[in-house]
Amino acid sequence: MVSPSVIVATSSIEPTPMARAVDLDDLIPGATPWELEIGFGKGRYLLERAASRPQTRFAGIEVASKYFRLVAKRIRRRRLSNVIVLRGEALYLLSAMLPAGFARAVHVYFPDPWPKSRHQKRRLFEADTLDLLLRTLEVGGKLFFATDHLEYGDTVRTLLESHPGIRLRVRERGWEDGPRTNYEAKYVREGRPICRFEIERSATSLAELLHPEGAAKILSAAASRE
Ligand SMILES: C[S@@+](CC[C@H](N)C(=O)[O-])C[C@H]1O[C@@H](n2cnc3c(N)ncnc32)[C@H](O)[C@@H]1O
Repeated sequence: MVSPSVIVATSSIEPTPMARAVDLDDLIPGATPWELEIGFGKGRYLLERAASRPQTRFAGIEVASKYFRLVAKRIRRRRLSNVIVLRGEALYLLSAMLPAGFARAVHVYFPDPWPKSRHQKRRLFEADTLDLLLRTLEVGGKLFFATDHLEYGDTVRTLLESHPGIRLRVRERGWEDGPRTNYEAKYVREGRPICRFEIERSATSLAELLHPEGAAKILSAAASRE
């Protein structure tokens, strides 16, 4: 269980440098499914989805304090008892704080593409970090992704197509429920092309979630240290 001192409000958590895995069921008790949104920004989707699905529990991750505080305030004001928000770097929280296999759905909309190669290590969709994202899903759970950065979308698609532990669906049209986030609503209004993927976890073991290229990268890094 997280030490009460790191719980800012019943609905929000700031990780400490000594963060331990969060027992999510301690924070929102129950047996209903979990969904996770990474980089929720102003929280339009997280808040709307939580309000319309009281039988689902939601966790949100956001690195920007400004958005984290704004959304934590809205959660309290709207008395949503089925959402928690965590402030921090997604890759760190995914690897250090969130349990494997807890989420029925993960949402990543318009993540920063980090086009410069020196920023590559911050990308969520990389061969050696993709498993951190996929491992949060239960088997059969789905990851929903959208970007307006078509070059980044192509890179992510290539990476996903060569992953044996998932099923990829490239969506030709928008979501059935319409534009989900603030960025998506704005880009749809502007008529910008958007690339959307639905990714289902089929792998049953965590080892199968490591992308083959990622495994090769990690092994060669280990070998070069010897
Ligand atoms: C382009 S905005 C998109 C916001 C929202 N998803 C939308 O579609 O309207 C990207 C969001 O991801 C957050 N973000 C960027 N890098 C992150 C990271 N490493 N961990 C968590 N959040 C991150 C940013 O602070 C920002 O709110």
